[in-house]
Amino acid sequence: MYSTKIGGIGSYVPEKEVTNKDLENVMDTSDEWIQERTGIMSRRYGKKHEETSTTMAVHAAEIAIERAGIEKEDIDFIIFATLSPDYYFPGCGVLLQREMGITNTEIGALDIRNQCSGFIYALSVGDQFIKTGMYKNILVVGAEMHSMGLDFTTRGRNVTVIFGDGAGAVVLQRSTEEGQGILTTHLHSDGTYAEKLAMINPGAHGGYHANKMGEHIDYGYPDTEYGEMFINHQMIDHAQLYPQMEGQFVFKLAVQKFPEVIGEALKKTGLQTSDIDMFVPHQANLRISQFVQRRLGLKNEQVWNNIQKYGNTTAASIPIALCEAWESGAVKPGDLVCLAAFGSGFTWGSVLIRW
Ligand code: ACO
Repeated sequence: MYSTKIGGIGSYVPEKEVTNKDLENVMDTSDEWIQERTGIMSRRYGKKHEETSTTMAVHAAEIAIERAGIEKEDIDFIIFATLSPDYYFPGCGVLLQREMGITNTEIGALDIRNQCSGFIYALSVGDQFIKTGMYKNILVVGAEMHSMGLDFTTRGRNVTVIFGDGAGAVVLQRSTEEGQGILTTHLHSDGTYAEKLAMINPGAHGGYHANKMGEHIDYGYPDTEYGEMFINHQMIDHAQLYPQMEGQFVFKLAVQKFPEVIGEALKKTGLQTSDIDMFVPHQANLRISQFVQRRLGLKNEQVWNNIQKYGNTTAASIPIALCEAWESGAVKPGDLVCLAAFGSGFTWGSVLIRW
């Protein structure tokens, strides 16, 4: 059996910075409200009609590949985690392959749709392929272009102010050094509350899930004998094409599941919270991260937060934060790095890495 090391890491955030004050100009919100509830001060938005999850991912991937000391043609598998793909299908994995000019068709490309825990799931899948000897160099990417799908009116303020755009990538590589790289991964899911944090349109549900949020919504599907379209005028006219979130419900579960799944990883490896050199949580909300930090008894220097600058970038948040921590020297060879996420699904997970 081989082990999986992080051979290289890269990240990219778009140039355009949007502060809370900027959002005050388009909706009824305030810098004070946003900072107090989420810790967020600003976020980045990709260039409209130019940047996408794929184009941002290319920048991050190129840096990760260069730092791994390999060529793009050495990549033998691509895993792409996003909830804001360029197309409904095909997924961003093949678009990234094309955009990067990877002409090798021996490789596979897989898209992961696990929202905030997408990068943790992607690392775990990649780890299995490396450990079994199937692949040597796997490109794992998390990227989001949220700004193209948010409601920039007061109606959408509870969700919109939280999210930002960006991308992060790692190259997972085969290692023969025992005890190095990914030590353990833990994945969980519970579909009971799927609609509590979701974007259910456009979709093939045909109105089936209409009242799962406790309210009836008429999606206006016409009564035809066969099929429909995934989208209809009603959804557009009534603003039913945006993410929906029951914030307090999500908060309560998140602060419970983060410590649980981290504890599971520590138990499996016989380690303790005091052994963690750097904890990089999914940047969901600074208040969630602080709650988890207190629960685990971690010091400030053991936790990396950058949601203040970038907002919640969902599948991209962990690799962007991890890359920043590594670039600043806060993650060094031999360090024990703990990653964990909780999000829509609900799905959650953790990863321990000996850097
Ligand atoms: N600006 C100003 N007021 C707002 C805003 C806003 N952006 N958003 C909501 N409000 C108002 C509401 O309308 C409501 O007003 P009312 O009392 O007059 O009805 C009031 O603020 C309180 O609304 P709540 O939704 O109850 O606010 P809450 O204190 O729960 O904070 C928040 C909302 C920040 C989303 C919080 O619930 C939270 O952090 N939840 C965790 C979910 C999360 O972090 N999700 C991130 C994505 S999921 C993930 O990554 C795991």
